[in-house]
Amino acid sequence: IKRVTTHVIQEMKTRGEKISCLTAYDYSMAGIVDAAGVELILVGDSASNVMAGHETTLPITIDQMIYHAQSVVRAVKRALVVVDLPFGSYQGNSREALSSAIRIMKESGAHAVKLEGGLEIKDSITRILSAGVPVMGHLGLTPQSIYKFGTYTVRAKEDAEAAKLLEDAKMLEEVGCFSVVLEKIPSKLTKMVSESISIPTVGIGAGPEADGQILVLHDLLGINKAFKPRFLRRYAELNDIMHDAIGNYIKDVKSKSFPSMGESY
Ligand code: KIV
Ligand code: NA
Repeated sequence: IKRVTTHVIQEMKTRGEKISCLTAYDYSMAGIVDAAGVELILVGDSASNVMAGHETTLPITIDQMIYHAQSVVRAVKRALVVVDLPFGSYQGNSREALSSAIRIMKESGAHAVKLEGGLEIKDSITRILSAGVPVMGHLGLTPQSIYKFGTYTVRAKEDAEAAKLLEDAKMLEEVGCFSVVLEKIPSKLTKMVSESISIPTVGIGAGPEADGQILVLHDLLGINKAFKPRFLRRYAELNDIMHDAIGNYIKDVKSKSFPSMGESY
């Protein structure tokens, strides 16, 4: 199998082929996602919510991110594996940013890192890039800054915030990021950004004009029934399927129909 590289991702934008991306946090799921054929797998710090049950992405540690990334890398044969630098591992200190990125690359075997923010973290991004580590940007709704914003609503609806986002995107391109995630911004702004920079944009809740799309795997699969933002399309109702399967198992145990003699030694 030919591996997807950052160059392949870049060529897809040039060619006009949309880039499909999903998150994964563990070996079993990553194997399924990779075999299905997405180009990019993000070991997102959404693991903090999805895997660990935290309310925000802030508590997850770099060691926990490395554990998830190692599990994903073991399963992936084709996709580009990108790992989120967690909150507190890169902001405000480019030296620390570099050592965090190097730890993730060395200990997990992943192919790139993702950082949230624009101009504020330019030094960190530049330093990581100078070590030869590919960087993906992340603008718009940046969940690590949730306590600054206060809500998870759509970002950059106002002209000033939209103008800053466009500037940040241009900066990310200029310093050498290979791609940028745009989260929960108006479609119009996504179109403008995607047309203004040559590196691919990957949208989530950012409309159809992004060069690629990403969703949290567990959301797409319908595992969390309570989470239903407008941008989410569910491709399965796995929560129901799993609930029923487990219910049937319980019934069979109680009624002594499981295990049968054929299932025994
Ligand atoms: O952590 C995550 O899952 C993400 C994507 C939603 C972009 O950052
Ligand atoms: Na993230």
